[in-house]
Amino acid sequence: MRKGKMKEFRVIDIVAGARPNFMKIAPVVRALKAGGQVSGSGKPFWRIVHTGQHYDFAMNGVFFEQLGIPSPSVHLGVGSGSHGAQTARILELYEAHAVKARPAATVVFGDVNSTVACALAAVKLQVPVVHVEAGLRSFDRSMPEEINRLVTDTLSDLLFVSEPSGLENLSREGIDEGKVKFVGNVMIDTLVRELPEARNLRLCRRFGLEPGGYGLVTLHRPSNVDDPRVLSRLLFLLSDLSRELPLVFPMHPRTKKAADQAGLGHVFENKPNLVVVDPIPYRENLCLMADARVVLTDSGGMQEETSFLHIPCLTLRENTERPVTLTRGTSRLVGNDPQRIRSAFEDVLSDRWKKGEDIPLWDGHAGERIAGIIFEFMAQGAPAFSCKPK
Ligand code: UD1
Repeated sequence: MRKGKMKEFRVIDIVAGARPNFMKIAPVVRALKAGGQVSGSGKPFWRIVHTGQHYDFAMNGVFFEQLGIPSPSVHLGVGSGSHGAQTARILELYEAHAVKARPAATVVFGDVNSTVACALAAVKLQVPVVHVEAGLRSFDRSMPEEINRLVTDTLSDLLFVSEPSGLENLSREGIDEGKVKFVGNVMIDTLVRELPEARNLRLCRRFGLEPGGYGLVTLHRPSNVDDPRVLSRLLFLLSDLSRELPLVFPMHPRTKKAADQAGLGHVFENKPNLVVVDPIPYRENLCLMADARVVLTDSGGMQEETSFLHIPCLTLRENTERPVTLTRGTSRLVGNDPQRIRSAFEDVLSDRWKKGEDIPLWDGHAGERIAGIIFEFMAQGAPAFSCKPK
């Protein structure tokens, strides 16, 4: 690589903001770090920009610690807010950073507000945008994440896809196939790496439970927690189900706030089989998932992780942007209707559940594939990126 070019394409921004981003950036950062030699220069090609969308230690710092992610070089400190306010604040602050720092490219992950905001700021500054986990579609525009996915993909110069449906969706939307790369799932890279240590924790025993002898619950989607009637129905159902199989429920701050506001705190009182805890770190969650008899969740990531682990997953949603977890994995959509959830729960307990198959390119090496392609583009003076930094 010529010296002048190296200077021009100096540093890639790796953007992280919310909890599900952290396990996705870890393998990419590791592979970029290891691949420093690809260019022969040894200079750092990347820096982490943290928007601050999630800021509590339990939602943020502990993930950096456990996954060995280097500290962010830039911290925008945006915090919480309405969707418009939060997205606008990230847009403004990331733009100010990018104007000064002129990143070689902006790499965004997943579908959170930080993803779309930084992509939008970058593209307007003619900084190439790279989207990891592109092409997923729930076809449900009432989900904020679906809007974030659609907008981010349309702005991106390089789109890394995690499952086959992503290729079909992007092709149907007319995205140039030269920009689209099927690389597999970075979240599974982190899982593969952390699983042995996670298993050793045997966390369920701390709650007096045995592997295979409990269910794990997580809930945080607006469709399940924002309407007090829906939330109340779900919480009473969980309390009922816990009589058949003990349940562990690490509660997202959004859900806790909603339950407190709706006066539903009492649902968990005197329920020895319903263990409600604060949000737990990555490895602890992975351990609880791997040892669970069943997982009930509205999380996108946990649909994927349970499929990889071959653990039955009741997805408390009407749709999913990750259809491979239904067709090849272990997930079933059960919405938030108590009857449907109960019936699926009974199916698991009576062993009427699919075992799941392996999913293509969910093999622990997606981060390396991504870094390899990024290095290729950079080494070529990034001709495939639509614009060059000024
Ligand atoms: C965000 C993502 C969602 C992802 C989820 C995982 C968007 C649109 N949504 O949703 O896709 O699945 O993260 O967690 O980006 N809060 C705290 N401490 C924190 C962060 C948040 O107490 O560290 C509380 C605040 O009251 C905040 C609320 O949680 O208002 C929601 O946080 P926010 O980042 O807006 O969205 P999530 O529901 O976490």
